[in-house]
Amino acid sequence: MLKGKKIVLGVTGSIAAYKSAVLLRLLVKKGAEVQVLMTKAGKEFITPVTLSALSGKPVLGEFFERGDGTWHSHVDLGLWADAMLIAPATASTMGKMVNGICDNLLVTTYLSARCPVFVAPAMDLDMFQHPSTLQNMTTLQSWGCTIIEPASGALASGLEGKGRMEEPEAIVQLLEDWFVGAEKKKPLSAKRILLTAGPTYEAIDPVRFIGNYSSGKMGFALAEELAARGARVELVCGPVHLKTVHPNIHRSSVTTAAEMLAACQELFPLCDGAIMAAAVADYRVAQPAAQKIKRSGEALSLQLVPNPDIARELGLQKRPGQVVAGFALETVNEEQNARLKLEKKNLDFIVLNSLAEEGAGFMGDTNKISIIGADNKRRDFPLKTKAEVASDIVDHLEACLITN
Ligand code: CTP
Repeated sequence: MLKGKKIVLGVTGSIAAYKSAVLLRLLVKKGAEVQVLMTKAGKEFITPVTLSALSGKPVLGEFFERGDGTWHSHVDLGLWADAMLIAPATASTMGKMVNGICDNLLVTTYLSARCPVFVAPAMDLDMFQHPSTLQNMTTLQSWGCTIIEPASGALASGLEGKGRMEEPEAIVQLLEDWFVGAEKKKPLSAKRILLTAGPTYEAIDPVRFIGNYSSGKMGFALAEELAARGARVELVCGPVHLKTVHPNIHRSSVTTAAEMLAACQELFPLCDGAIMAAAVADYRVAQPAAQKIKRSGEALSLQLVPNPDIARELGLQKRPGQVVAGFALETVNEEQNARLKLEKKNLDFIVLNSLAEEGAGFMGDTNKISIIGADNKRRDFPLKTKAEVASDIVDHLEACLITN
């Protein structure tokens, strides 16, 4: 379970630092890639040479390399890591973590880390029991750190042994269990999903365009849901005023249908699936005017030419295993039209929303959908928030990815 996982191992100045060598060896044996960070005091207890030999990487400790002026970026390390483990963690290091005292690379990296952080304290009983230490551990825990302590049953009796660092085997087991649990909660973690959202604008002249009322809200709710389940999301969106939150959402902003198609063509081969939630303009102006069109007393005609059908392009291109889902926004003959689109665009499923339904459609925060699958079965859902609707749609996508 630790294969390929990137772990920052922080080693601080405790006698238990000798156990870090065993811990590191176990992590590497399980296939983890480990970058060791040591504090100055840590180096008094175990040599960096030992830990760099075991990890196969130079041990980092200082912000700068004295010799060549290289700067070690705590931000890069914090982003690189899938987990940060500080073992042993002294009372001093925990105190610095709580108070944001960034006078070494280890604490600085902790403050930049976006990954889960595990802390295995090691100190004598009096230090461990001091209100300062207890308070700091409680604070770290309340911020989401996992404090790793030997189970009380593993201690000889009462307080004896309190403050001793947990054994390396148990620490590794705990990390493995954490990753297994996390992956269960993130069923799309190895998946990359393309998602279109929002309207497209097709220019009439430099100041006017043909557009539609799409707010992009449904698409953005889908982006957050996909990312929360672990997917890397390639969001290709037209002009909207929305922001994404999750760091796994990679946004490409486009204006026209042609630009949206170009972005999708580039990304789709790299993806496991696509959800086409954009309200793409079906037509564009044949020849947009280079200058602003002036008012005249005459009627004005614009010649429109069809835009490419992005969903259909991807539906026809998809390779075995890839899933493509679309939306159908209908005002009449909804089911029949949706089924036609499903077939014509070679989709795996289509999400039908009817403008006839109160609370459904473009602009609001709610939606009422039906999903029609490739098996032609229809499932109706009640009126829900767009976030809840996104979850129903992603459930369906997940099921298709498994069966495809
Ligand atoms: N779609 C697309 N490219 C287009 C038009 C539509 O990718 N040029 C996608 C939409 O994102 C949606 C699905 O196709 O997932 C259906 O969109 P919709 O506008 O309902 O259907 P159209 O094919 O445009 O048909 P019509 O406008 O005639 O209803």
